[in-house]
Amino acid sequence: MNIKSKIIGVGFTAPEKILTNKDLEKIVETSDEWIKSRTGMSERHIADEKTATSDLATGAALKALEMAKIGPEEIDLIMVGTVSPDMFFPSTACFVQNNIKAVKAAAFDLSAACSGFIYGLSLAKGMIASGEAKNILVIGADCLSKLTDWTDRNTCVLFGDGAGAVVLQATEEDTGVLSSHIFSDASKTHLLQVPAGGSRTPFSVEVLEQRTNFIKMEGNEVFKNAVKGMERAIDAALNKAGLKYEDVSLVIPHQANIRIIESIAKRMKLPPEKVFINLDKYGNTSSASIPIAMTEAYASGKLKKGDILVITAFGAGFTMGAAVIRWSI
Ligand code: UT7
Repeated sequence: MNIKSKIIGVGFTAPEKILTNKDLEKIVETSDEWIKSRTGMSERHIADEKTATSDLATGAALKALEMAKIGPEEIDLIMVGTVSPDMFFPSTACFVQNNIKAVKAAAFDLSAACSGFIYGLSLAKGMIASGEAKNILVIGADCLSKLTDWTDRNTCVLFGDGAGAVVLQATEEDTGVLSSHIFSDASKTHLLQVPAGGSRTPFSVEVLEQRTNFIKMEGNEVFKNAVKGMERAIDAALNKAGLKYEDVSLVIPHQANIRIIESIAKRMKLPPEKVFINLDKYGNTSSASIPIAMTEAYASGKLKKGDILVITAFGAGFTMGAAVIRWSI
């Protein structure tokens, strides 16, 4: 029997506080004009001191469960794609499990940076196909503001905080996640990383002074690799699903830069209405960007039952991936 995974609920949470480009002009040497023209971003949501990644993930999970109309005790597995966990351990997923009372679920985090949600979706699809699980919560959640160097204009204008979640359910219908393709190019780890604070260079006074516990990125190189990587991932996922560019109803790319997205859309010859963009409001929310966009696309009527949705992401590692989904709600 070919068991597929269909999405039966989506939801997202973003912190209340909004940081605009004008606000950033007061923090670093930058301008609203530069940020808009180079990235497409206008504002992003930033978590307050008391809010951790699991708080945002919990909010998103509860909304997705509400839409799915299933109880938390029916969830077999919770996966949280994150690179900004509450703590090194226990996992952020374990905090979520306790918060939502998903008493029988297994819970773990998955580290694939901005590709965390797609990696999670791909694993969840396999778990459901094998019969290991029936209902899985896949969450993308990050508070990159807590890893951001607010004196570095190269990075601090880019990121926002948030979480998005989907409930995947086993089905025998030909719907849901039709294919996925995930891969990595680990020869480029140096181009985007948080160098210190882990076991390689534990936290110390020196780390604090050199600010190496924050995100470091060679933006231009990452940009080029992101375009190529997501294009490769989309082609592979569509090929696995036996579909072509013309079959696609909507593409939701990782929301890192409007110019990256435009470049992908141009290659796929997609009209603007077939490409979902919300980075102007949220910035780059890392693993949360795709499930946040999926929720907004559905809520605004841009995703309808039966539509063919392509999602694709690229992140530190470099990790990359894409999935083809027949929308089922
Ligand atoms: O989510 C994971 C994947 N992440 C990404 O995909 C991010 C990919 N990279 C990017 O989106 C872009 O590379 C950035 C938006 C980060 C940068 O845009 P860019 O067009 O690649 O700019 P650049 O790094 O080549 O810098 C151009 C200039 C530099 O000045 P000089 O050296 O030409 O004088 C920078 O110092 O822009 C300067 N600059 C800024 N100026 C005003 C860099 N950041 C800023 C800033 N405000 N915030």
